[in-house]
Amino acid sequence: MYSKRISCIGAGYVGGPTMAVIAAKCPQYKVNVVDVSEARIKAWQTDTLPIYEPGLLEVVQAARGRNLFFSTDIRTAIRESEIIFVSVNTPTKTFGEGEGKAADLQYWEKVAREIRRESESPKIVIEKSTLPVKTAQTMENILNSNGKKVQFEVISNPEFLAEGTAIKDLLNPDRVLIGSRETPEGLKARQEIVDIYANWVPKERILTSNIWSSELSKLVANAFLAQRISSINSISALCEKTDASVQEVANAVGMDTRIGSQFLKASVGFGGSCFKKDILNLVYICESYGLHDVAHYWDAVLRMNEYQESRFVKTVIREMFNTIVGKRIALFGFAFKANTSDTRETPAIYIAKKLLEEKAEVVITDPKALENARLDLAGSTGELDFVSDPYDAALGAHAVAVMTEWNLYSSLDWEKIYKSMEKPAFVFDGRNILDHARLHKIGFNVYPLGRPPLKHF
Ligand code: UDX
Ligand code: UDX
Repeated sequence: MYSKRISCIGAGYVGGPTMAVIAAKCPQYKVNVVDVSEARIKAWQTDTLPIYEPGLLEVVQAARGRNLFFSTDIRTAIRESEIIFVSVNTPTKTFGEGEGKAADLQYWEKVAREIRRESESPKIVIEKSTLPVKTAQTMENILNSNGKKVQFEVISNPEFLAEGTAIKDLLNPDRVLIGSRETPEGLKARQEIVDIYANWVPKERILTSNIWSSELSKLVANAFLAQRISSINSISALCEKTDASVQEVANAVGMDTRIGSQFLKASVGFGGSCFKKDILNLVYICESYGLHDVAHYWDAVLRMNEYQESRFVKTVIREMFNTIVGKRIALFGFAFKANTSDTRETPAIYIAKKLLEEKAEVVITDPKALENARLDLAGSTGELDFVSDPYDAALGAHAVAVMTEWNLYSSLDWEKIYKSMEKPAFVFDGRNILDHARLHKIGFNVYPLGRPPLKHF
């Protein structure tokens, strides 16, 4: 009854939403999402989904039980599908050769072996996870040493969705990239995947390429995005020294259509599961090909991000009279960006730890990410508290530091907050989302990023 049977191994931030959208848009396909984690799968089967993503629940509800299924039965999913997406995690290696830089491909390889073992009929295996360029070669080597004569085609179809806007990005992508071998079998498999997306994506936005370009494009796209943030963050430091405003500079620079206005928001630093990991990976690949200058160039994007995070903490300490011992500091937001509960690589982890090292009392508030924040800071010692109401978090605090650009923070009653805080009261806006002039008028000492501070002394 279904015209294609698709499965996806890995029901995370990427696999879950991507498959939900495919299933919702293509009722003629059966979509099986499988994962080793029973808890994750159970959550996908309820209305309390394992990840927070605006619009996701509605999309899942539209297809779940009809043509979208979640299970831990990886074996059956492999056997009954012609097309298998793989979106298991590919973290940075934490041991051995390439430690701290290379991608850890152990889960990927394990899945490839599982696919080989269970397959009795031809399969198209799709790399959805971000992988080092040339991984498809390894996959082919593993899949094809099967002795079973089952035919496998490996396709690269990297995901460009951003968290918080995943559903919008999936429904209306700038482009979908599909890379394959340029053999007759490779081109045929490529077309099968093009046909899936053509159900809702205009043809001109479905790009096809050779498989190595596709693998590399994902790393390069993330590296370019991160590079823009590091560029504007580097300029924010210079703005603070010269009384320029980083927002005015970004606006003036970004209006040049050759440059463009997006991804020029200065921040306390970029986070998320991808940027750091993918750049480390790019750097490692360049080094392994002897391209040391190229590696060095991209590594600087990460160094600048670390600089921006540490600069933020230094400003807090310096401006609060060079000591924050025993002072209550409320971190507004912990997620790595707004509209997600994800805290992977969030700058807030680093900032919270540094403030604790300085013996401050740290209070964390976030509308969606408190549970993850608790896990991230589980081993930290010192005065640490987690509070869901921002007004309670600010009560008796010496300073508020904005870590995440949640909308709700700009519409809070800041007069009420000011009244409840210790004086002098400080606001460090790590996202430039607040009305700085107004806060200053209320009585705060305000420290935007990349702009002169507004102080009362
Ligand atoms: C992951 C990678 O981090 C990213 O590089 C890639 O582009 C897509 O996949 P994400 O979906 O955010 O991104 O990861 P995560 O939320 O950790 O999901 C991965 C899932 O795979 C987890 O639910 C995990 O349980 C599952 N998994 C992992 C398996 O099912 N089998 C395994 O062997 C390993
Ligand atoms: C990113 C890519 O955008 C996406 O295409 C890819 O598939 C995965 O990696 P994501 O990490 O989910 O997506 O979010 P993104 O919106 O790119 O933000 C990453 C980080 O950069 C966040 O911490 C965000 O706050 C920060 N950022 C973004 C800035 O500091 N300034 C900006 O102007 C934009």
